[in-house]
Amino acid sequence: MDLRKSYSLKKHNTFGMDVSCAAYVEYGSVEELVKFFSAGRQYDLPRPFLHIGGGSNLLFTGDFPGTVLHSGIRFISVSDHGVEVGAGTLWDDFCLWCAENGFWGPENLSGIPGETGAAAVQNIGAYGVEFKDLVREVRCFDVVTCSVKTFRQAECRYGYRDSIFKQSAKGRYIVTSVVFNLSSEVSPRLEYGHVKAAVERALSESSKEALTPGIIRSVILGIRDSKLPDPAKIGSAGSFFKNPVVPKVFYEKAEHYAKSKYGQDYEVPHFDAGSGFVKIPAAWLIEQCGWKGYREGNAGVYEKQPLVLVNLTGKAVPDEIVALEKKIAGSVLDLFGIELQPEVEHI
Ligand code: EPU
Repeated sequence: MDLRKSYSLKKHNTFGMDVSCAAYVEYGSVEELVKFFSAGRQYDLPRPFLHIGGGSNLLFTGDFPGTVLHSGIRFISVSDHGVEVGAGTLWDDFCLWCAENGFWGPENLSGIPGETGAAAVQNIGAYGVEFKDLVREVRCFDVVTCSVKTFRQAECRYGYRDSIFKQSAKGRYIVTSVVFNLSSEVSPRLEYGHVKAAVERALSESSKEALTPGIIRSVILGIRDSKLPDPAKIGSAGSFFKNPVVPKVFYEKAEHYAKSKYGQDYEVPHFDAGSGFVKIPAAWLIEQCGWKGYREGNAGVYEKQPLVLVNLTGKAVPDEIVALEKKIAGSVLDLFGIELQPEVEHI
């Protein structure tokens, strides 16, 4: 168990905010976590408690007055039950391991920053696959009863970037490991956008015939690389807003706006969400408001994907990001009447 006081969180958030916490605790095993809580050590530490993963979906809006917990439980093990992965394992280490060992499942989710425990809370998703499609069960520690508890997939109540761990169970359960359903049978998921075309290109260029999860992984990493900033070089937290799901009338209004601006053949990107609702890419709405590539002080809107707010100089302070967020959301509301919700958690 590693316990620090007045600890810098700069390396623990991909936005690169230079903030600190009053205390920081990293544990290396479930046993250490159980011992910590059952010995009542939490009572000696500043409140509130916040459990983080890789800090890739967080915006610290200032110094954190409480205790930050972080999992150092890192392992990947195979049994008859499935593949179990420790919560502190980097998500992409797991994706790489699957590609190297010929397991299908998470290849479309390659390159997503963050850790496996946070992926279970956030239901990460990309290129037509979500975490919920792969998981069999989520193993947790219950801080109220000081005991372990396993959630089966259906009990996690997964939705778009949502789960029970963000709703009614928030703060009560700490994810310690995840058990996945993986397949060694060829089972590619190529329906999203241009993924299929890119995979076909990669296959013909490499003159390989058989599709492997490794080939898809390389294609996905290539797509991500061309659209998203590398968190090691430019601070960001990935998509800053969720893609809004709105009644169809909002889409019709956007369509009217776009057709009168770009001509009758123009198609507004959208996905049918059922029951008279439509999902419109927030990136499109933000681009229409003229924010793509915008820069103000140390903060900016990524030039290739306007859904991503960036810490351009590495010196942005939380207020600069929040001010930009408010301006962007305000302009989308003014032009389209649509309220954008942040995807990134504000602390
Ligand atoms: N678009 C624009 N302008 C742009 C970029 C995109 O108009 O500059 C429009 C295009 O119509 C494009 C559509 O937005 O077809 C969707 O763009 P993209 O495929 O890049 O995906 P996204 O909806 O913006 C979501 C996830 C990403 C995930 C990608 C790929 C959310 C909030 N974001 O973004 O997840 O990587 O799909 O599946 O759902 C994250 O959650 O942090 C994240 C990066």
